[in-house]
Amino acid sequence: MILTIRKYPDPVLQKPGEPVAVFDDALRSFVADMFETMYAAQGIGLAAPQVGDSRRITVIDLSCGKDPAQKMVLVNPEIVEREGRIYEEEGCLSFPEIREKVVRAAYVKVRAQDEHGTWFEAEGEELLSRCLQHEIDHLDGVLFLFRISGLKRDLALRKIRKLQRAGEW
Ligand code: NI
Repeated sequence: MILTIRKYPDPVLQKPGEPVAVFDDALRSFVADMFETMYAAQGIGLAAPQVGDSRRITVIDLSCGKDPAQKMVLVNPEIVEREGRIYEEEGCLSFPEIREKVVRAAYVKVRAQDEHGTWFEAEGEELLSRCLQHEIDHLDGVLFLFRISGLKRDLALRKIRKLQRAGEW
């Protein structure tokens, strides 16, 4: 089932997610819906708050549905190591048409549970590193627009208000 993607300034996007304690069929079905929603929107990452669910769940697939080996489900993820620095353009399904350069760690190691509750570790560099940090930020209620300079953020917020007035947001 395709879920509705919440756009900024929906308050759920800035609310920290609750840890997941129950790993049941309902959770797995929700995870499947998140993948379906992400693919329909041609995204590479989606966090539960973006579909209005304040739980610490995110899905990532850099292949956008082309390579099942790249599907990642991260429940209750935490960054346990970070190294280096990159500065690249990012987008977000909750901010259509907005792209901004964000400073991120070039490498991260994360610890998370899968949809069955099993803990695992995963590492990411470059795009995957950025994606992991962007999605885990969502679970803390942190949006990428709040990781850029105030001046750039004001310009982006102005663009959003303009799109809202035009009924295009
Ligand atoms: Ni995002």
